[in-house]
Amino acid sequence: MRYTSLRLLSDVKAFTVYCCRCTVTTTTQPAEAVQSTGGKTLTDIPGPGGIYSLPFVGFRLHFKPFGKYDMRLISTKLEAWKNDYGPIVRVRLGKRWSLYLFDPDDIEKVFRGDQKYPERIALPLMSIYEKRQNLPSTLANTNGKEWHAMRGPTQKIMLRPKAVTKYAPKLSIIADDFVDSLKTSGRLDNLPFKLMEYSAEGVGMLCFNTRLGCITSDNTATPLMTYTKDFLDRLGSHFYRMIPSYMLFRTKFYVGFEEAANFLYSTVEEHINKALKDLKHASDNGIEHESNLLFDLLSTSGLTPAQVHRTITDVFIGGIDSTASSMTFLLFYLAKYPDKQERLFKDLQEHVPKKGQIQEETINNLPYLKACLKESFRLVFPIAGGTVRIMDKDITLKGYNIPKGTPMQLCSGTIGRDEQYFPQQDQFIPERWMRGDSRTDVNPFAHLPFGFGPRKCIGQRFAEQEIFICAAKLLRNYRVVLPPGVTDIPYFYCIFATPREPASFILEERED
Ligand code: HEM
Repeated sequence: MRYTSLRLLSDVKAFTVYCCRCTVTTTTQPAEAVQSTGGKTLTDIPGPGGIYSLPFVGFRLHFKPFGKYDMRLISTKLEAWKNDYGPIVRVRLGKRWSLYLFDPDDIEKVFRGDQKYPERIALPLMSIYEKRQNLPSTLANTNGKEWHAMRGPTQKIMLRPKAVTKYAPKLSIIADDFVDSLKTSGRLDNLPFKLMEYSAEGVGMLCFNTRLGCITSDNTATPLMTYTKDFLDRLGSHFYRMIPSYMLFRTKFYVGFEEAANFLYSTVEEHINKALKDLKHASDNGIEHESNLLFDLLSTSGLTPAQVHRTITDVFIGGIDSTASSMTFLLFYLAKYPDKQERLFKDLQEHVPKKGQIQEETINNLPYLKACLKESFRLVFPIAGGTVRIMDKDITLKGYNIPKGTPMQLCSGTIGRDEQYFPQQDQFIPERWMRGDSRTDVNPFAHLPFGFGPRKCIGQRFAEQEIFICAAKLLRNYRVVLPPGVTDIPYFYCIFATPREPASFILEERED
């Protein structure tokens, strides 16, 4: 099946390549072409040399089967680079040099220097899909003016506190359904998948103003869930393929991705067409339409339906795995540290109904829950390493002149595990984030799970609300316990941190 119906979309522009791990970019200027202004240059920055500095293959050689590191757990390699070379490390990535930053002050400098159009690297698999289908890039996968045109109006709607708080009552109902679908106390296998059903349902409400029916009580996945999972699995694993043959040929791997992507794209399109009809009906009949993300984007943002399609596609895709896996690790740490779970439960008993609506004010009364999420993000950083920036101007870091166009990975994940910034780094201590408790002064640039600045996560407010509501409801109704013998939850990065095995938990119903 070729996806051909979105012909109204405009032409495809700049592709760059995403992720710390990947290949080529088409940014403005080759890094080597820029000369130092007198200080130390890019090539003076320490980093792995010899065979590791070979273009294209050098990066691959660090990882299995050539090296000892697992590419899917790149955080372990980042840690080793920091220990071996210090707070700024130069690594050959594709044909260019790339930098890895481990000092929050440098990260602040890069983020604060963000240009009007902060640039990240695009996902190669998405880019090749878009190219083959002759589709323009989505919000997250594009840069420059095209990105800005979609981001501005969307951000006005999504990052406004009030715009998101109105979803709290709807999310409460979804969370109640989710808790009901768990049905009973006892062992619950593959909780992450159940959480994905909840997050898909939640983000479906945000994007399409409708219930998608993803939450099932009999563990059967709807086609939407099956395709979404397949899409995200393939997107998350394409970085690790030894030879990216899908870039040249329509391999089996690529065809599977295309099928899933086509399904998702056409689902989004159907919802947009329906929303357009609803809006027309409302305007023809003088009915005031409900204000929500989809209607607001279509009616007040100034974006074309094609741009809305691209934005909504990304918001929908970006909103599922991210929150589900974050909730998994949050629940894991609360199960591992029962005393922390009991402290949280006291707050929940006071403020959260077992069933029924949670309002924004309720969440404001749960600072300990917020601290638990921050601490769990610190221990298992949600995205591999941290986000990436490519500056459009030169910048000086630690006395080195860094030419514009150099990809820089801002390694918040490694900083979060650094004893220098977080004493007792391997312990789950939510109190470190609580005012008046044993809070330590944390450099705000040492912990940025949602990124920072004009290109930070556009779904942050919604994600946090979704997680708080679901966790509050689940932990209000059940004590979450680890199965006997389980002390850890091994994970790797598949875009987001993902448990290696379907993670099981034991749920014990709360009596009162
Ligand atoms: C715990 C959950 C989440 C985490 C940790 C997370 C993290 C991130 C990060 C680190 C970025 C890149 C930021 C930067 O470069 O500075 C990002 C971008 C993005 N996120 Fe999230 N995210 C989460 C949930 C969500 C949700 C729920 C949505 C949608 C409702 C969403 C939609 C997006 C989109 C569309 C982008 C691209 C924005 C752009 O390029 O302008 N995310 N996210």
